[in-house]
Amino acid sequence: MAFLSNEEINNIRSSVSIVDVISDYIPLTKKGKNYFGVCPFHDDHAPSMSVSETKQIYKCFSCGATGNVFNFVMDYEHISFIEAVGKIASKAGIDLNFTTKDKPKKNSNLYDIYELTNKLFQNNINTKQGAEAISYLKKRNINEELIKEFGIGLSLNKHDILTNLLLKKGYSYEEQLKSGLVVKNNYGYQDIYFNRIMFPLEDMFGRVVGFSGRRYDDVKEYKYINTMETEIFKKGEILYNYYRAKDIARRKQQIIVMEGFMDVIRAHSIGVKNVVATMGTALTKENVNNIKRMAKEVILCFDGDSAGFKATMSAIKEFEQANVIPKIVLLSDDLDPDDYIIKKGAESFLNLLKNPINVMDFKLRYLKQGKDFTNSVDVASYVNEVIKELNYLNDDVLKELTIQKLSEETNLSQDFIKSKIQTKEQKPQVIEKATTTKYNKYEKAEQNLIYYMLKDPEVIKIYNRRITYMPTSKYRLLAREISYFYKQFGYINIADLISFIKDDKELIKTIGEIDSLDLKDNYTKEEIADYIKVIYEYSVVNEIKRLKNQMKLETDSIKKAELGKKIIELKMRSEDSDK
Ligand code: CTP
Ligand code: MN
Repeated sequence: MAFLSNEEINNIRSSVSIVDVISDYIPLTKKGKNYFGVCPFHDDHAPSMSVSETKQIYKCFSCGATGNVFNFVMDYEHISFIEAVGKIASKAGIDLNFTTKDKPKKNSNLYDIYELTNKLFQNNINTKQGAEAISYLKKRNINEELIKEFGIGLSLNKHDILTNLLLKKGYSYEEQLKSGLVVKNNYGYQDIYFNRIMFPLEDMFGRVVGFSGRRYDDVKEYKYINTMETEIFKKGEILYNYYRAKDIARRKQQIIVMEGFMDVIRAHSIGVKNVVATMGTALTKENVNNIKRMAKEVILCFDGDSAGFKATMSAIKEFEQANVIPKIVLLSDDLDPDDYIIKKGAESFLNLLKNPINVMDFKLRYLKQGKDFTNSVDVASYVNEVIKELNYLNDDVLKELTIQKLSEETNLSQDFIKSKIQTKEQKPQVIEKATTTKYNKYEKAEQNLIYYMLKDPEVIKIYNRRITYMPTSKYRLLAREISYFYKQFGYINIADLISFIKDDKELIKTIGEIDSLDLKDNYTKEEIADYIKVIYEYSVVNEIKRLKNQMKLETDSIKKAELGKKIIELKMRSEDSDK
């Protein structure tokens, strides 16, 4: 599939309507000739994304996100360009197999093995031999509905069921070992998992890529066994329940992060479905990025014991690195979310969730641990630690409130505390709002020229003849891209141009910016000539400036004279173009 031609890609693109596809993800309302919806690519509540049926592109007026149907699917689903093309093709009923035939998809055997294994485990739990496992799960308040929804299964108390099945289905021992589900030991090839309740671990698209197997005899040793890392299973990349939670989280603009997958299943069972868990590992940058893309509000709800407390602190740091200030739910009595909900009830948990504490309150509590406030040394170290955190904090209101609290706690004056805080540069905002920049006349001329280049090949031809250099680099790049596209394919069309550019987000945004100018449909030759003249004049003016500077520095009088001659020539040429 990686070998699709531009033409094939364009055919796939034009076989669907962008309005239909985007409607599958977010609600759109028609207003005038365009459709509008809430942009899923930044935090928003107003319908700032417009989708054009005629141009087959979308554009967000607030964050500038722009693209065709492929870009939308790529960014929404976090998938590659070629995967997005594949998705759209299958939606349109276009069979791409002919191109994939000779090149098997990477790791497809691994995915198949996991799917097959998952079916086996799910089947097992419903047999007579699954009765004990089911009763363990029931005891833990995991009913049949949840078992189904989370695909929970069972590996039986025999060591060769899976390996034999895989062999029968044609998977070599080599492949079996690679899957991490089979080992080779003194007894030959054996299943890794036997007599465990099996929780499938899914990747971002819901494909099973690993398992966690829990023993169900209440012995704590080797409570869980997770699949080893493979080509398709990287612990640090997986978030349990991601693919079920992502849409709900986006809609609510809130995502809750927990430590254990049992906690996630429990939360889900009481209707809290915008929840994910890490795989028993510390939160990675990759995790943070995926979480951040789902929702603006991030709530950490880790175990209520000291390990959970500590893990919360490190998770906060990881989020802060990514410019996200999370909120925190603290659970009492050392309970994890699962136990908390069972012991204290759903209502009580939902209340905590409604009132998460802010990050600084958490840090105050965290830093207070083990300190004796009658001891000035302890107080001093506490104050210094809090001030260090305040230095990091990128929220003025929260900063002020924390200073007040710290002052009350320690009897130090607010002024004193403030004097200890280093004012530092604000970190850049996560989302840059589209700026309402004032453009100079050269930029305006470039924009307008490109606007009509995107509409009419005649203007591209004029550009090719007359312009060698656009002053502004992003417009220069875009104009060249348009000219190149036209040379290659003999037509111009924004949506196909975007496919052609593929992953240069900035360039695609520039297209959106220009398209938003919404100039009148018809242009006159004089107008185009005018833009050309302004752009041309700019390069001449710049060149003259450059030569004049050079002349000033030149000591050789002959060379000086040559430069002077060049300047005069340029001046005459620019006057020519006035005519
Ligand atoms: N974990 C693991 N191996 C273990 C223990 C834990 O991989 N021996 C991982 C699992 O992903 C688990 C997470 O760490 O979901 C949290 O561990 P823990 O809090 O001990 O598990 P619980 O979710 O409380 O599981 P349970 O309620 O079944 O005891
Ligand atoms: Mn638990």
